[in-house]
Amino acid sequence: MPAVSKKGLSMPESPIRKLVPYAEKAYKANKTVFHLNIGQPDIKSPQIAMDAVTSHNLEILAYTRSEGSELYRNKIAGYFQKHNINVTGDEIIVTTGGSEALLFAMGSIADTDDEIIIPEPFYANYNGFATASGINIVPVNSKIEDNFALPPIEEFEKLITPKTKAILICNPGNPTGYLYSKEEIQKLAKIVKKHDLFLVADEVYREFTYDGAKHYSILEEESLVENAIVIDSVSKRYSMCGARIGCLVTKNKEVLKTALKFAQARLSPPTFAQIASEAALQTPQSYFDDVIVEYKERRDTLVKHLEEIPGVKVGHPKGAFYCIAQLPVKNSDDFAQWLLESFDVDGATIMVAPAAGFYSTPGVGKNQIRIAYVLNTESLIKAVHILKEALKVYKD
Ligand SMILES: Cc1ncc(COP(=O)(O)O)c(C=O)c1O
Repeated sequence: MPAVSKKGLSMPESPIRKLVPYAEKAYKANKTVFHLNIGQPDIKSPQIAMDAVTSHNLEILAYTRSEGSELYRNKIAGYFQKHNINVTGDEIIVTTGGSEALLFAMGSIADTDDEIIIPEPFYANYNGFATASGINIVPVNSKIEDNFALPPIEEFEKLITPKTKAILICNPGNPTGYLYSKEEIQKLAKIVKKHDLFLVADEVYREFTYDGAKHYSILEEESLVENAIVIDSVSKRYSMCGARIGCLVTKNKEVLKTALKFAQARLSPPTFAQIASEAALQTPQSYFDDVIVEYKERRDTLVKHLEEIPGVKVGHPKGAFYCIAQLPVKNSDDFAQWLLESFDVDGATIMVAPAAGFYSTPGVGKNQIRIAYVLNTESLIKAVHILKEALKVYKD
C-alpha cells in the first residue's frame, strides 16, 4: 500500500474533536450531552447577513478576486477604522476563515524549521497550521495563577534564536480568555522591533471584552507598521462560523505581496459568504451590546459555579468566551472520556476539551480543561452541576 506522508502522520489530532466518538456513544445511550467543548456560539447570525444571501440577484456564482472583492475589502477597512485601526482596503486579503489567514501568514513569513514563539496554552489548531507549514512552535508558558497574563518578556527573549521569525499571540485568548493590556502589547512591540521579528495577532475575538476593558490591537502601535500581521474573522463576531470568511491585515507590502500569491493559488474566497459578510458589517452596535451582556452573564455564572467546586481553580477570563479550569484530577483526557462513557446525572452529561492539547510543552495542562461558555446560563448551571457531581465520584 502506498504510504502517507510523514508530515501527514505528524499532523496533530484536534483535542476538541477527538472525543466525538464517545459523545456519539452517549447520544446512542439516550444521554443529553452539554457541549462545553467547542466554540460554536448559539447566538443568531445577524438577519441582515442572512437576507443578503437569500435576496441576491447573481446569475453566475463566479470567483471574486483572489484578495477578495474590492467593495468588501474597502468596507472592512471602514470597520477597522472605527476600531482605531488605520488601514486601507489594499492592506487586507480576504481569506477562507481566520484559519486560512493563519496559514497564509505562516507560509509568508517562515520557512521549513523556522520558529514561532507562542504563549501557551494557545488555540490548538496553531499546531496543525505550523505542522502543515513545516514550522516549529516554541512555547512560552503562561500560568493560571496569573490568569494567563503575558509571561515576563525575558522569557521570550531567552527563546529567540536565528530561526525565530515571529511571536504569535491570540488576543483576547482562546483558550484562556486573557485580554492583553496596551502595556503588554507595547512590551511585545519593543522586543519584535529589537530582534526584527513579525508580531502576529489573532484578534478574531476583538469584540468580546468584558467589564469595560478595551481591546488594543497591534495595528494601533505605530512602531509596528512593518512587523504587525493581524488575523481576523467574521466567525465569532457575527456568529457566522459557517460563512468561512476571515482576513489577513498588514501594512507590510512584502507580506501582502507574498500572501497574495498563496491567495492566488486557491483562486478566490467564497463569493456568497463575502456577500453575507459585507452585509453583516451594517450590524448595529446594539447587536454587540446585547451579545456582550449575554456572554458576560454566562461568564459570571460559569466562574461563580466553578469556584464553588472544591479543588477547582479557574482562570478569570476578560474576553472571548472560554476559560481554563484546573481540576482535582490527574489526567483530564481520561476524565473527559469517562464523563461521556460512564457518567450522567439524570441522563445528562458534559463534553469538555482536555487542555493538554492547548499546550505544546509535554505533560503541562494535564489536569486542566477548557470550557466554552457558548450555552445559555440555565444549561451552564446544569453542566457545572454535572461536573461537580462527577468530581465527587471520579477516581483516576
Ligand atoms: C483563536 C482562533 N483563531 C482562529 C480561529 C479560526 O476561525 P475561522 O477559521 O472560523 O475564522 C478560531 C476558531 O475557533 C479561533 O478560536
